[in-house]
Amino acid sequence: RDRLARAVLTNAADSAIPERPRTGGEIAALRDRFEDDPHRPQFHLSTPANWLNDPNGVVQWNGRYHVFYQYNPGGPYHDTIHWGHAVSDDLLHWEDEPVALAPSPDGPDRDGCWSGCAVDDDGAATLVYTGGRGRDQLPCLATADDPSLRRWEKATDNPIIEAPPTEPDLLSTEEWNGEFRDHCVWQEGETWYQLIGSGLADGGGVVLLYESPDLREWEYRGPILSGDRDTPQETVWECPELLDLGEKQLLHVSNYEDVVYFLGQFDGATFEPERRGTLDRGDYYAPQSLRADDGRLLTWGWVPEARDVSAQWDAGWSGTMSLPRELSLGDDGRLRQRPARELTELRGDCESRESVTLDDGESIRLDTDGRSFELATRLSLVDADAVEVTLLGTATENERTTLRYTRDDVLEVDRSRSSRDPRATSDSQHVPVTPYDEPLDLRVFVDGSVVELFANERHCLTSRVYPAGDDATGVDLATVGGRARLPTVEAWELASIW
Ligand code: FRU
Repeated sequence: RDRLARAVLTNAADSAIPERPRTGGEIAALRDRFEDDPHRPQFHLSTPANWLNDPNGVVQWNGRYHVFYQYNPGGPYHDTIHWGHAVSDDLLHWEDEPVALAPSPDGPDRDGCWSGCAVDDDGAATLVYTGGRGRDQLPCLATADDPSLRRWEKATDNPIIEAPPTEPDLLSTEEWNGEFRDHCVWQEGETWYQLIGSGLADGGGVVLLYESPDLREWEYRGPILSGDRDTPQETVWECPELLDLGEKQLLHVSNYEDVVYFLGQFDGATFEPERRGTLDRGDYYAPQSLRADDGRLLTWGWVPEARDVSAQWDAGWSGTMSLPRELSLGDDGRLRQRPARELTELRGDCESRESVTLDDGESIRLDTDGRSFELATRLSLVDADAVEVTLLGTATENERTTLRYTRDDVLEVDRSRSSRDPRATSDSQHVPVTPYDEPLDLRVFVDGSVVELFANERHCLTSRVYPAGDDATGVDLATVGGRARLPTVEAWELASIW
């Protein structure tokens, strides 16, 4: 909310937008500036420089993967949002592309090209995104001019919906005529459907449904689901997305705090939730998915910074993407999230141990090199109270990040000592795991300042940490209050995706 409010204020003040880099060489030069920054991720998608938030328009087009994203070329803060662009043939190696969308000074997207999606309109790649202008947030459309999806032509009759619906009574504020943004568009038969995120005047986020024969003329159909009006943070649901998981549909929304998901049934008019959850309990927001040519659902989320704006300003870049995740429905009817299978191909040198038993107070150290690695292990507590995995520890600064798996069925990322820089957050993050989650299969991806954790392919927790010491490598495994068993421990160095 603050980001969007700021966007309007700063835009009104005629902010100077630096020239956008256009060529691959200019973009590569931007990225090279951060080569020696130890907090910079190597195998998570990032912007060449400056600000990144939501993934947008993710699509596999003519076989290539495209990830667009909310991008401010002017600096590492949220303002004058453009669409950045990266491409990959294999989901492993990525290249920066020039900016794909920029605000048009006289258009309904004058103050920002906010989040949206990409669809295939009978062979024409088409974007539906939110244009921000003054107090308005309204849907706009653009079509690709070339098969590489570099050049986009905006529809001359943007916005494609003139105003938010009057029913139900939607939230409007001093800054906004109506919270009405972010788009999930799909086609069934000849009919296009569109979801837009909003909030109700008397509280609770809401997802609105529209229908169209041609992506240009839209008819309002009503809300498909609204949130709990008594949950204070749920004033608006941003970035709604509806995904078909076969027997069930998954609807997720971002509510300023978390990405909440519902598993249930969509009947074409309303969504009947059967189960509710949180996609990731950590620094993860506004995800978006594509249906790959091989049928997989691949999802990326925005991994925001967990350090203050002055630290982001000093760094010169802000925000990164999560790893691509495969979403599916398990046989137990629950959601599964696993790192895209391709990622094992980034693995290099490996240190591995087998049949490790740790007695009370005992620890083992893995000498992983560098700050880009994957740790895979299986943990059983036996009679221990907890197993602790210490990451990114520095001897010089006495910093460390501790993953703690406890008998209380909680996985914790303890950041109280992650960084001696007071500008970095020190809150701990938690994800509840259930008793039948023993043993716990853990895959932990450590990448500069990102710790992205998958437990039993069900629980995800992504954390940002910023050790100040440059000797922040190595992994320690230890138990507290009893014995623990680790049938395997493996740590691989992971290669850069750039
Ligand atoms: C979510 C969000 C969207 C909006 C975009 C603006 O992070 O606030 O609702 O379209 O970011 O950058």
